[in-house]
Amino acid sequence: QSHQHKDLFPVMEKVSQFYQQQLRVNPQAKRAIQYLKDRGLSGEIAKQYAIGYAPEQWHALIKLADQPHQQKLEKDLVETGMLIEKENGQTYDRFRDRIMFPIRNRRGQVIGFGGRIIDKGEPKYLNSPETPLFHKSKELYGLYEMRHQLRSIDQIIIVEGYMDVVALAQFGIFNAVATLGTATTSDHLQTLFRLCPKIIFCFDGDRAGKAAALRALNHALPLIKDTREIRLMFLPDGEDPDSLVRKIGAAEFIQRSDQAKTLFDYLIEYLQSQVDMNTFEGPAQLVHLAKPYLQSIHDQVLKVRFEASLAKLSGLDPAQLKQILQSEVTATP
Ligand code: CTP
Ligand code: MN
Ligand code: MN
Ligand code: MN
Ligand code: MN
Repeated sequence: QSHQHKDLFPVMEKVSQFYQQQLRVNPQAKRAIQYLKDRGLSGEIAKQYAIGYAPEQWHALIKLADQPHQQKLEKDLVETGMLIEKENGQTYDRFRDRIMFPIRNRRGQVIGFGGRIIDKGEPKYLNSPETPLFHKSKELYGLYEMRHQLRSIDQIIIVEGYMDVVALAQFGIFNAVATLGTATTSDHLQTLFRLCPKIIFCFDGDRAGKAAALRALNHALPLIKDTREIRLMFLPDGEDPDSLVRKIGAAEFIQRSDQAKTLFDYLIEYLQSQVDMNTFEGPAQLVHLAKPYLQSIHDQVLKVRFEASLAKLSGLDPAQLKQILQSEVTATP
């Protein structure tokens, strides 16, 4: 990271402190507080996640510096994405009248924000853009707070949203992190596997959730090795972790996450669901469908076991299957 990079951290910290202070003292923030309360969040959790309020003003942040220093601050705020610069060079606050969730890096430094509209409206969430500090494909919301809260981490739950992380924390489940409006990347998974070998994806029960599971599968397969384990948890249609934990409570939520399917059990089930196993062709089609997945498995033990499962399912002799898969690989032009 360059020298300029580092200059921006204190600016973001100052902004975060300001938003938190606004939540406490600004009369406009009453609606924000009521909204957070209505969603079941305590002041304690709000504080832990440093939740704040961006006032309904176009030029609040620039006033964080005295007149002589405003030019430098303005430049830094534009660079961090907190101010938007118009073509004529004038600037204004990106986040206005929103509930602010600071996104911290692993050291706890604020690198960006997610801002939720109070109650209804569009866009529901506004996020910091990519900046020298903030790279969406690498960062996870709640990661710092999780490490801060937990002595040892035995598993990590990946959820979709800020509110999911915070709501789970409210219920005492501190081991959840969220991707930031993007799909989970290999970078995310590698970061998490450095902390613990067990990861649970929590997907919505809807079609989008199923599609997300397949993408996750593709990213995850090459990373599985040794004692690493990934599970896929599918929520009932219409629920997200926030709404579900409110409905069923922490104990049942944890129980369901423990029972979630492992990556390979899911993969095998998924492949079978894609063909008609009662036809002559079905088991053969299964082998062909499985091939690209097989090729992305790096763990030798899992690879051999997966091949054995395929042999069983397709009714092929394992040695024969191996030969077929190899000859097909080399035969493709
Ligand atoms: N998201 C976003 N921009 C939007 C909508 C969503 O960036 N306009 C991202 C946010 O990171 C959000 C996540 O996608 O947290 C999940 O979206 P969604 O399920 O719609 O929001 P929830 O987290 O469930 O928010 P809430 O419960 O407050 O409605
Ligand atoms: Mn960088
Ligand atoms: Mn959804
Ligand atoms: Mn949601
Ligand atoms: Mn939600």
